[in-house]
Amino acid sequence: MKFENKRAGGIKSSPSMAIAMAAKKLAAEGCDIIDLSLGEPDFEPPAHVADAACEAIRKGRVRYGVPAGMESLRAAIVSKFKTENRLDYAIDEVMVANGAKQILFDAFLATLETGDEVIIPTPCWVSYGDIVSLHGGEPVYVNCGPDAGFKITAERLEASITPKTRWLMLNSPSNPTGAIYSADEYRALAEVLALHPQILVLSDEIYEHILLKDVPFASFVSACPELRDRTLIVNGVSKAYAMTGWRVGYAAGPKTLIAALNKMQSQSVTSVSTVAQVAALAALTGDQAFVAKAAETFAGRAKIVSQRLAQIDKLDFTPPDGAFYAFIGVTKLLGRTTAEGAVIADDMALASHLLQQFGLSSVPGAAFGAPGFIRLSIAASDRELEGACDRLAAMVRSLAA
Ligand SMILES: Cc1ncc(COP(=O)(O)O)c(C=O)c1O
Repeated sequence: MKFENKRAGGIKSSPSMAIAMAAKKLAAEGCDIIDLSLGEPDFEPPAHVADAACEAIRKGRVRYGVPAGMESLRAAIVSKFKTENRLDYAIDEVMVANGAKQILFDAFLATLETGDEVIIPTPCWVSYGDIVSLHGGEPVYVNCGPDAGFKITAERLEASITPKTRWLMLNSPSNPTGAIYSADEYRALAEVLALHPQILVLSDEIYEHILLKDVPFASFVSACPELRDRTLIVNGVSKAYAMTGWRVGYAAGPKTLIAALNKMQSQSVTSVSTVAQVAALAALTGDQAFVAKAAETFAGRAKIVSQRLAQIDKLDFTPPDGAFYAFIGVTKLLGRTTAEGAVIADDMALASHLLQQFGLSSVPGAAFGAPGFIRLSIAASDRELEGACDRLAAMVRSLAA
């Protein structure tokens, strides 16, 4: 029997999740797997996060919360925007959701009419397009390859806008490329957006703190304050505080947009788990040393991986400025033949071969709307990263022209 409707049938499960599950299955069968498919920090959150959550459970802070999020947590978010981004938001201009991912669901559910277009510069996070489609929108992918530093330019943005354009998605630092937009690059985009007042901007700033070089982070609204009232900033504690499983994201935007998102939450999840909110509050208000230390660790790992990848012939690789991924161009390997006699037709075949024969789990570029690449997470130990580079090098050597 067919259960799924057209919208559900038209999308796929998250590809990075699917690959991670395949890697876990092989590992459970006894294969020696290095899994660099999922984007999550490989260390524990600061101890005060777990302490606060345990105390909340013991004190019985386990009742329903309000859809927008606990007032104390929203106050902490307001203060985060003030101190870290020099942005003034009122308490009813921020909200809390089950991860940044749910904010995208809330936003598109609340705002998209069927057929509305959402401009998504690619390479992009695997989920953007399908979340748009699921809500009746039309993803409009704009290819922003290495020649453009993996970023959308004012010209490309202008060329992609139609009367149906409703949102522009931005993500800096980027998953998967690590590219970071400068304030000037944002302002160039804002000049175009000024001519199209119907377009809203979703600025996904979840990797704000994972800075790997001297390239500074710019929040979209700090760079373009004139667009504050049509921008939704998306952020969360998953990446900055290694709290992926706690599922707490947050957003800032104009009051009426935030109210619309809260309405979606009130009729779906009710609220984020109150225990998780207490944990997020501890993360945002506690000692912030963890955040800088984590970024330093990732920067060290990015260096190791960059040095090793530079030694492997036939890979195209630009070291990332932010986030924790290596996005590697593999087009020179396509069309080559494996030791088993199979031709590597595309990045999906390459990623599958790398997993099956060399025990290294990656995500093919096609999942990010960018065929011809693979993504490795660098959120792993130095030993695993060294091992991964060895396996990648061995795979490249094994392919015949
Ligand atoms: C660019 C980007 N946005 C959002 C998310 C989702 O984050 P969360 O764990 O807060 O749902 C991810 C997670 O991988 C991501 O890479």
